[in-house]
Amino acid sequence: MKETKLWINGEWVSTAESYELTAPYNGEHISNIAKATVNDVERSIEGAHQAFLQFKSSTAYERAEILYRVAELMKERKQDLAEIAAREAGKPITAALTEIDRTITTYQFAAEAAKGLSGETLPMDAAPGGKDRIGWTKRVPLGVISAITPFNFPFNLVAHKLGPAFAVGNAVVLKPAGQTPLSSLVMAGIFKDAGLPDGMLQIVTGSGSELSDTLVTHPLVKKVTFTGSSPVGLKIKEKVGLRKVTLELGSNAGLIVEPSVPIDKIIDRCVSGAFGYAGQVCISLQRIYVHQSIYDQFLNAFVAATEKLVVGDPLDEKTDVSAMINPKEVTRIMQWIEEAKEQGATVATGGTFTERTLTPTVMANVQPDMKVACQETFAPIVSIVPYDTFDEAINLVNQSDLGLNAGIFTNNLEDAMRAADELEAGAVIINDVPTFRIDNMPYGGVKNSGYGREGIKYAVNEMTDLKFITIKTKL
Ligand code: SIN
Repeated sequence: MKETKLWINGEWVSTAESYELTAPYNGEHISNIAKATVNDVERSIEGAHQAFLQFKSSTAYERAEILYRVAELMKERKQDLAEIAAREAGKPITAALTEIDRTITTYQFAAEAAKGLSGETLPMDAAPGGKDRIGWTKRVPLGVISAITPFNFPFNLVAHKLGPAFAVGNAVVLKPAGQTPLSSLVMAGIFKDAGLPDGMLQIVTGSGSELSDTLVTHPLVKKVTFTGSSPVGLKIKEKVGLRKVTLELGSNAGLIVEPSVPIDKIIDRCVSGAFGYAGQVCISLQRIYVHQSIYDQFLNAFVAATEKLVVGDPLDEKTDVSAMINPKEVTRIMQWIEEAKEQGATVATGGTFTERTLTPTVMANVQPDMKVACQETFAPIVSIVPYDTFDEAINLVNQSDLGLNAGIFTNNLEDAMRAADELEAGAVIINDVPTFRIDNMPYGGVKNSGYGREGIKYAVNEMTDLKFITIKTKL
């Protein structure tokens, strides 16, 4: 695709301005991407509102069929879709294929959620004045939802917004990340072929705070759902007013490794948790706290496994780690590494870089207040830190403003249950890395990691209003 367009009211719409999309891995020109104006965004929102007014009387069966068809159409185009993500996001093709599989499952869960949408009956006669009345609840769609999505899972994190929204009959104006618009634009055709009425999905590409402000504050927008950084999430929260909002923000996931665990059984999971998609995952494993009695053994095994990772072209099946999303991010993380070294940290392996890639980096002697520990690195870098007592390990993981997933490897049930209670996170993953997610899990954070939950069933709740109805059965 040489020039892209906006997808508004079921038509491709040209724009006067565009920007150049280049591949993270080699800088090659991929496409010129249409830049929407505020007027385009307003037109999208108004069109979505009109489409919603028609679609809100659709049946659960009709909505589920559309979502199942989306999943089927994606199955037919798996390789082609994965290559789009690999090229524009710099995601290794094996990881991109896994993402497409997950996206298919996400749309299937959404189809099932459409069919499972239900309410409850209330025992009206349990209260004085409730005699001869029947009361029940139902979930009703909100209307137009603005969805602002990140670059790192350009299919699946979009599906986590579109799937539940359409399952319940909402319309969506989607603004995908500037670096990964093609993965969203290709979905316009798939949704159309699956039978989604025109206007129900609008896609606006481009950048600038005026676009985002319009998406967040337009009177016809009833909800904003955003995945991205904490500072941007906070700005959105300040602007949404009384609208509903879901914010899935950053993290710096921590893991505790207890001495009772056989190291050889967990190293590969830890390495892939730290370096999958070059660490550009919100639940990427960033801090590992290992009991001092097994620290040296763990560090050596981890470094040896890290050094086997292949850094290269995302389209090559052998590649484990490819480029970071843009050269600016490589510069940023190299500065953080240098700063940590000046403060006493050491690099156990990695730490070398090119304009676009950072070799998987393991750091030791890291202190909690160093940027590489207390801020979200979103890069292929992990710190491995020894601890003495379990209390200390819990405190170290919690020493962060962020809290999406946290993990613990242990054979001790009591410690596992203490971790479940005391780790400050949206999810505690016992006997796996925090970089674990399947698409029906509730997903979202505490502290500065967000507000609300995704995971289809939970997103459905956040994308509907609860309505109560009662009938007086005797006049
Ligand atoms: C994210 O980066 O927030 C998504 C992680 C995932 O879905 O695996």
